[in-house]
Amino acid sequence: MVFRPFEFFEQSCRLLLLAGASTLFAATAIVVSIKPASAGGDADISDDEISAILETHCVSCHSEEPTHPAYTIPQGGLVLESLDDVRDNADAIMLQTVESDIMPLGNETGMSDDERALLGAWLARETGAG
Ligand code: HEC
Repeated sequence: MVFRPFEFFEQSCRLLLLAGASTLFAATAIVVSIKPASAGGDADISDDEISAILETHCVSCHSEEPTHPAYTIPQGGLVLESLDDVRDNADAIMLQTVESDIMPLGNETGMSDDERALLGAWLARETGAG
């Protein structure tokens, strides 16, 4: 067999391309499989997860008797002690917590983007907000 440099080069390029493409494919597959979990999807967000987020990030300032040391009344007149409270204020919460990070105030509680996305997906599912 005669060695043909050009053919060899072409073959190598093809292999490289193939390797590149399959890496890309694998990476895409990973991203696609991870996304629904981090964005919350619209399927399995449990009420318990949302209650836990409220408990951690909202009720210290938004309850009848705030535990936050600076406050003695619900801030903004808003009580968020139950999931119905959250449903009733869906639009305001979408604006202040999901589409922006105005709330929690100064992000004192360190709410993550994933938690905001989860809350947003739950609100959309429950009330059609967003
Ligand atoms: C550190 C205290 C604090 C935390 C924690 C906090 N908020 Fe607030 N929130 C406030 C204050 C203060 C106001 C009133 C701001 C104003 O009137 O300018 C307010 C107002 C709001 C309003 C507007 C109410 C209205 O109708 O004008 C919404 C909606 C809201 N908060 C949602 C949330 C949500 C959802 C969380 C949790 C994810 C949260 N907040 C956590 C302090 C807090």
